[in-house]
Amino acid sequence: MGNLAIIFSILLLAIYCVACNALDQAFLECLREKAAGNGKILEDVYAPNSQRYLSLVELSQKNPRWLNSTSQLPLLIVTPQEEIEIGNVIVCSKNVGLEIRVKSGGHDYEGLSFRTQNGNPFVMIDLRNLNATEINLEEESVWIQTGVMLGQLYYEIAQRSNVHAFPGGLYPGVGSGGHISGGGFGTLLRKYGLAADNVLDARIVDVNGRILDRKAMGEDLFWALRGGGGASFGVILAWKLQLVRVPEQITVFSFRRRLEPRNFYLLQRWQNIAHQYNNDIFLRVLIQNLGTNAPGDEKVVQMTFNGQFLGTPDELVPLLNESFPEFGFEAKDCFKEPVEKNNTNCPDKPCIKKECFQVSWIRSVFYFSGRNMTGPLEIMLDPKGRRVQYSKGKSDYVKTPIPEKGWEIVQKFFLKEQLPMMILDPYGGRVSEIAEDESPFPHRKGNLFNIQYLNYWLDNSESEANGKLRWINNLYTQMEPFVANSPRTSYINYKDLDLGTNDKDYSYSNAKVWGEKYFKGNFERLARVKGKVDPGNFFKNEQSIPVLLYGHKNA
Ligand SMILES: Cc1cc2nc3c(=O)[nH]c(=O)nc-3n(C[C@H](O)[C@H](O)[C@H](O)COP(=O)(O)OP(=O)(O)OC[C@H]3O[C@@H](n4cnc5c(N)ncnc54)[C@H](O)[C@@H]3O)c2cc1C
Ligand SMILES: *[C@@H]1O[C@H](CO)[C@@H](O)[C@H](O)[C@H]1NC(C)=O
Ligand SMILES: *[C@@H]1O[C@H](CO)[C@@H](O)[C@H](O)[C@H]1NC(C)=O
Ligand SMILES: *[C@@H]1O[C@H](CO)[C@@H](O)[C@H](O)[C@H]1NC(C)=O
Ligand SMILES: *[C@@H]1O[C@H](CO)[C@@H](O)[C@H](O)[C@H]1NC(C)=O
Ligand SMILES: *[C@@H]1O[C@H](CO)[C@@H](O)[C@H](O)[C@H]1NC(C)=O
Repeated sequence: MGNLAIIFSILLLAIYCVACNALDQAFLECLREKAAGNGKILEDVYAPNSQRYLSLVELSQKNPRWLNSTSQLPLLIVTPQEEIEIGNVIVCSKNVGLEIRVKSGGHDYEGLSFRTQNGNPFVMIDLRNLNATEINLEEESVWIQTGVMLGQLYYEIAQRSNVHAFPGGLYPGVGSGGHISGGGFGTLLRKYGLAADNVLDARIVDVNGRILDRKAMGEDLFWALRGGGGASFGVILAWKLQLVRVPEQITVFSFRRRLEPRNFYLLQRWQNIAHQYNNDIFLRVLIQNLGTNAPGDEKVVQMTFNGQFLGTPDELVPLLNESFPEFGFEAKDCFKEPVEKNNTNCPDKPCIKKECFQVSWIRSVFYFSGRNMTGPLEIMLDPKGRRVQYSKGKSDYVKTPIPEKGWEIVQKFFLKEQLPMMILDPYGGRVSEIAEDESPFPHRKGNLFNIQYLNYWLDNSESEANGKLRWINNLYTQMEPFVANSPRTSYINYKDLDLGTNDKDYSYSNAKVWGEKYFKGNFERLARVKGKVDPGNFFKNEQSIPVLLYGHKNA
C-alpha cells in the first residue's frame, strides 16, 4: 500500500513535469514563430531555474505572505521591452493552454499579479520595463505606460510643473496598472475624484493580441477599465491622464489623541464634518496601537488626524479652529519649508503632538507616504524603502456615523493586538458628485468615509499568521452593525478573497456574491462587457469578472 502510493505519486510528478516541459516548450516555440525576425522577446523569458526568475518573483512581492514552498508561482516570467511583444505572449499562452497574470506595481492585497490558487500553470507578464511617460503641459495631460509606478508619475509631473498634480494614491511604489483600473484614491479625492475619474484614454491588448485605444475599444470597455479592475479584460498598456491644478504651496498637518472614551467625541465630530468640508480639505484618521507588547509597557491606541489643505496656513487656521479648536492651531505652528520630520511614533504618552508644514504638492506626497521630506526627489523613483512585513487588509464604507459603542469595540480590539491599523478616508466632494454608474466604482453619494482595516506581522509561521487573520476577521464581523449593508460594500483595490472566489466556479451567480460588494449595480454591466470582449474567459483570476453573454438574463 505504502509503496504503491509512493510509486503513484512519483508517476504523477513525472507526468506533471513532462506536461510542464511540453507547455513551456510549446509556448517558446510559438513565441519564436511570432517574433520571427527579431526574436527579442526570447531573451526576456525566465524559467524557475534562472537567477533572474527568483529575483523577479521576490521583487514583485510587496507582501511576501505567499513566498513559500507551497505557493503556486509562474511557470515562466516575461519582461517585455516593447508593447508589441505582449500580444504575442497573450496569443501563445492561449494557444498552448497557459493562463497569464499581469504585474504592474505588485501591490495586489492577495498577490494575484504573481500567484494563483487554482492550480493551473501560468505566465507572468512583468511590466517593469514599460515605464515611458509623456507630459503635455499645454493640454494638461500625460500618457504613461503601466510599468510606471505612482512615485514616478508624481516625480515626472513635479519635474515639469509646480502647479500640476495627479489625484492618485499615497504610496510611490503602487503601480498604475492595478491602481487606476481599480479606482485609486488619495488626498486629492475630495477635490478631483478618483484616479480613474481622470483617465482620458487608454491602450489595451485584447484577447486576440490586438492593441486598441479608446476609440477602437469602444465606450463600454473604456468604462469597464476605469474601476472594474484591469485584469479581467486584457492587458492595459498605457493610460492618458488628466493633470489637475494645485497651488504652488499647500499645507499638510496632523494632530493626535489617544483613542479612549473621553476622546470619542472627536471622532463623532470628524464623522459629521470631514465629508462636508470645503473640497480643498482632506482630513483622514489613522488608528494604531503604539504599544510594544513588552512586559509592563503601557499600550496606547492612538488616533492621528492627518490632513491636507490646498491653500496656505493662514487660510487653513480659521477653518481648523472652527472645527477642532481644542488643538489650538496657529499659522506660526507651520514650518514654511520642508523640514526633517520628528518621529511620528509619538513616543511620549499621552500623545498630544501636532505638526504642520507648508510645502509643494510633491513634498506632500513625501509627507503622506512617510518619506524623508528633505530627501532628494528621486526617492519617488525608488519603490523600496518599506520594511518587509506580512499583511492582510479588508474594507468597509460608512453611511451613518459610527456610534461610540463602535469605537469602544475598535479600542478593545486594538489594545489586544500588536501592529494593526485602521485608516478612515473621508469622501464627499468631487468623488461623491459623480453618478454611481458613470464608472464601475459605485461608492459615491451617501458614503461618509471608507474604512481600511489592516493587520501586520513579522513572523509568517502558520500559527502567527492564523492569529493575525483571526483578529482582523473578528473585528470585521463585529463592525457589521455600524457599516454600509445590503450589500456590505468593499473597495476592489483592497482586494479580499474572504468575500468569495472563482476558484471552483466561474459562473455569474457565484461571482455575484462578492462582485456586488465591490461594484453594486455595476457588476452586471461589467459581466456583459466581459462577455463581449473575452467570451472565452481567458483573462481570469480568483476574483475576475465572470462572463455574461448578451441576450442572457442575469442569473
Ligand atoms: C502599501 C500600499 C499602499 C496603497 N495605497 C493606496 C492608496 O493610497 N489608495 C488606493 O486607492 N489604493 C492603495 N493601495 C491599493 C492599490 O491601489 C491596489 O493594491 C492596486 O491594485 C495595486 O496596483 P499594482 O499595479 O501595484 O498591483 P499589481 O499587483 O501589479 O496588480 C493588481 C491587479 O491589477 C492587475 N493589473 C496590474 N497591471 C495591469 C495591467 N497593466 N493590465 C491589466 N491588469 C493589470 C493585476 O493582474 C492584479 O490583478 C495600496 C496598496 C499598498 C500595498
Ligand atoms: C504559503 O502560500 C500559500 C498560497 O500559495 C498560502 O495559502 C499559505 O497560507 C502560505 N503559508 C503561510 C505560512 O503563509
Ligand atoms: C524604466 O525602465 C528602464 C528599463 O527597465 C530602467 O532602466 C529605468 O531605470 C526605469 N526608469 C524608472 C524611472 O524607473
Ligand atoms: C479660534 O477661535 C476662537 C473663538 O472662536 C478665537 O477666540 C481665537 O482667537 C481663534 N484662534 C485662532 C488662532 O484663530
Ligand atoms: C522636532 O523636535 C525638536 C525638539 O523637540 C524641535 O525643536 C523641532 O522643532 C521639531 N521639529 C519638527 C519638524 O517638529
Ligand atoms: C533626510 O534627508 C536629508 C537630506 O538628504 C539628510 O541629511 C537626512 O539625514 C535625512 N534624514 C533621514 C532620517 O534619513
